[in-house]
Amino acid sequence: MAADALPHEQSISLLQRLIPQAMDSTTRSVIIAAAGAESWRLIDSRSSAAQSLDAKTEKIWLASLLPYWCQQLNSENSKANDDLRRNLQQHVHHDLAKSSARAQVWADAIAKLPSQAIANRFFECWLPEDRSVWQETISKAIDQTGMEPAEQESRATWLRFANSKQRHDWLDRVLATSASGTNQMATIEACLWADAKATTSALLDRFSGMTPRLQEPVLLALVSHPVAVIDLVDAIESKRVSIPQITATVRQRMSSHPKTEIRKRFAKLFESTEPTDLQLKEVIESYRVVLQRTSEKLPDTTSLERGKASFQKNCATCHRIGQDGQDVGPPLKSLHEKSPEQLLISILDPNREVDPRFQAYSVLVDDGRVLTGVIREESANQIVLAESGGKLTTIARAEVEQVKGNGYSLMPQGLQQQLTPDALAELIAWLRNVQTHPMDAFQR
Ligand code: HEC
Repeated sequence: MAADALPHEQSISLLQRLIPQAMDSTTRSVIIAAAGAESWRLIDSRSSAAQSLDAKTEKIWLASLLPYWCQQLNSENSKANDDLRRNLQQHVHHDLAKSSARAQVWADAIAKLPSQAIANRFFECWLPEDRSVWQETISKAIDQTGMEPAEQESRATWLRFANSKQRHDWLDRVLATSASGTNQMATIEACLWADAKATTSALLDRFSGMTPRLQEPVLLALVSHPVAVIDLVDAIESKRVSIPQITATVRQRMSSHPKTEIRKRFAKLFESTEPTDLQLKEVIESYRVVLQRTSEKLPDTTSLERGKASFQKNCATCHRIGQDGQDVGPPLKSLHEKSPEQLLISILDPNREVDPRFQAYSVLVDDGRVLTGVIREESANQIVLAESGGKLTTIARAEVEQVKGNGYSLMPQGLQQQLTPDALAELIAWLRNVQTHPMDAFQR
């Protein structure tokens, strides 16, 4: 960027003027890098250009600026760090003084940082009094009553900044009630972020009382957390969590964990339950017999309904049919053109042929997180990963410690543990009969 060539003041005000148009992440990172140590000024509300930013633009920018600042603060250059620290301190101080709503803007932005350890680098810049007033404001906002469920969910993300009693009470409440799944997961993720050990222990204590709908996302959250995963292996080894409670998707994630030592421990646990090639052949054979028997007659409505329910439970986290489900794996369309038997093989032996686009990749991020999914987009600066459940995560190359193709499909092996031969026959019948939206044929 040629801004380097301009006198200093001018270059910053030029960059500030670019902000409202620069909405893609690559352009944002170029602008931020060009502003360097002065990046805090890009959205400083004391400057006239930044004053006119709307809330949405500001949020998008904070999401790129905060990780950048945390990374800078962690680097070696101590002189530049001191300057940045001082400037950020004044910036935050001034901003928080403007209105109480500003506390929530900062809370939303900081909650998106991957871990408490990283957020602490930023908090260390704050004046102690700013931090305590801010924290009090957020704690009060969390416990406000009479909120809409959607509002409650965004407050759940602020539990990252609550005290341990407040967190514990919330966690207890959402696990005990039939709170919506997203609200439960937002709470669980916030509590893991703030205190992984205590949260993991609370979750494992309640695990067998959770519905399967909650068990799977809870296990996935624990597997991808650097601290929680260790307590999880311990819990399975000591049979607090039993192997049949672990779904195929979770099991696959465990067996491909990028930390060798953890992967080995998981592999040992599953050793006796993994089918050998010969056993898999036998499993497929026994399913085929049932399938042949059932596909001779036309399916009735109730069995189709059951097939649909199986799809929603076991497959919709990765496949979309019509309005249902997520596009992580290939969209399932024109399935009536495939024979029931072809579908049986696709489902029970997903690794017979693996399309490289859908190979599972594990990414170890430098903050310790492990993300697993298919690579949706790749550029020189970043990787976009699509995880089961449809979540897209953008990871900067600079933060990637290791990327590993697992050599098999993201489609999990071992779905026979969740589907009896009859259930699978009903699912296949539903897949072959379902009317997908005619427009689906034109997508992708
Ligand atoms: C964790 C994600 C995930 C889950 C859960 C999952 N799949 Fe898949 N599925 C995939 C991916 C990824 C592929 C692409 C595999 C490849 O080409 O390597 C795939 C491929 C398929 C295919 C082959 C599609 C084609 O065009 O050839 C079928 C059929 C299928 N899945 C059905 C199912 C069914 C039925 C379920 C539930 C019982 C299910 N899948 C659960 C990720 C998943």
